[in-house]
Amino acid sequence: MSTNSTGGSALYRGRIVNPKIDGSCEDLRNGCLAVGADGSITDVGRWEDIKRKLSAAETSRTVDFGSQLLLPGFIDLHLHFPQLDCRGMYADNLLTWLAKHIYPVEARFSDPNLARKTAKRLLHELARFGTTTAVIFSSVHSEATDILFEEAARRGVRAVIGKVLMDEGQNVPKTLLQDWRVGMEESVALCRKWHGASDGRLYYAFSPRFAITCSERLMREAGAAAKASGAYVQTHVSETVEEVRLVRERFPHRRNYVDVYDSAGLLGERTILAHGIHFEDEEYEMVASSKASVVYCPSSNLFLKSGTMNLKKMRQNRIPVGLGSDIGAGPHLSLLSVMRDGIYMQPQWVKPQEMLAMATIRGAAALGLDKQIGSFERGKDADFILIDPSTLSGRWREIEADLNDVLSLIIFRGGERERIVTKVFVKGREVYRES
Ligand code: GUN
Ligand code: ZN
Repeated sequence: MSTNSTGGSALYRGRIVNPKIDGSCEDLRNGCLAVGADGSITDVGRWEDIKRKLSAAETSRTVDFGSQLLLPGFIDLHLHFPQLDCRGMYADNLLTWLAKHIYPVEARFSDPNLARKTAKRLLHELARFGTTTAVIFSSVHSEATDILFEEAARRGVRAVIGKVLMDEGQNVPKTLLQDWRVGMEESVALCRKWHGASDGRLYYAFSPRFAITCSERLMREAGAAAKASGAYVQTHVSETVEEVRLVRERFPHRRNYVDVYDSAGLLGERTILAHGIHFEDEEYEMVASSKASVVYCPSSNLFLKSGTMNLKKMRQNRIPVGLGSDIGAGPHLSLLSVMRDGIYMQPQWVKPQEMLAMATIRGAAALGLDKQIGSFERGKDADFILIDPSTLSGRWREIEADLNDVLSLIIFRGGERERIVTKVFVKGREVYRES
């Protein structure tokens, strides 16, 4: 991977689209992103204005991308590393799908060779689709998780990764269940090694899979270890009706599904909850007061027919919501496709600008990293991508006048298109270029 061509500071010209937390986007045609040698953003604005402030020597380091879109890198808040190759496998509900397709494939990740090959491919694919930060469930295997961290460090991307914790549960192969002490020992060791590593680009997430496959003891230990280390917690919650029913049966002494996690000390501002589709009113309030974030995974929810996230209630309760591909239940790694499905799924239109904000600045806020990534501001890290939408429509010259039309075009026509993302940078360093 090369640095920003010369390894020093650089200026990138293009059409800068800068998402805001309120769901709007600033549109800077003929814009400029100035990046320092340390990979941070030193300025952002109109090219004419920035040029005026700089010497001829400084402006000589300009890379001009014409009318290509310069966007913050996408942030995928939820996906499963070992499920890269089980996307699109039929089963008519989540629990059958897990038992039939997912657990057997995850068991194979005891093989470090498979883990290495898959990790390289996953990280390449994520970069190719413009994802610069990914929050990833590994398998239960400590070695496979270590390998995924190594490859993420080598590739130069930003990632939150955790080894799956499971110590109980029907239909889970014995080889995937670990005594809580062993699972926690391995998780703590990985956290010590990787949380904050690679110049602060890598983070650890304690990862109890969901309440159906974890004992209360394991969940309590995971919550305590996350608090002690400042690491993240990731888990699944309230994804399907059947799962909610089983959790109620398993934990009759708890008020609801969210209370199972809350009483175990798993909820806090560094907690990432995937799905949250079938919440009762009280559960929205509990999640909101815990400051945990929720991940909208529309492609996965469509695939497994899990139900539809109530985005309106999430908003009303001020719960931070970002986007997740949730591969393998979600068939697409491209967050453009996930944005498309996210719009299709809601009963009312969600504006393309708001969807982009969910895939960037709101994802950053969900991780508590919105001072560092997710949009373009002086002092933030330069995680950005270039997208060339001009080949997506013969009417491009007319379409380009309106930002919502442009974003709509890339969301509805760009996701499955090869080579639409032309370049990807993390902290100012190029991690992918279309060849
Ligand atoms: N709930 C528990 N494990 C999983 C998983 O691997 N995928 C999805 N979609 N839901 C889950
Ligand atoms: Zn998942």
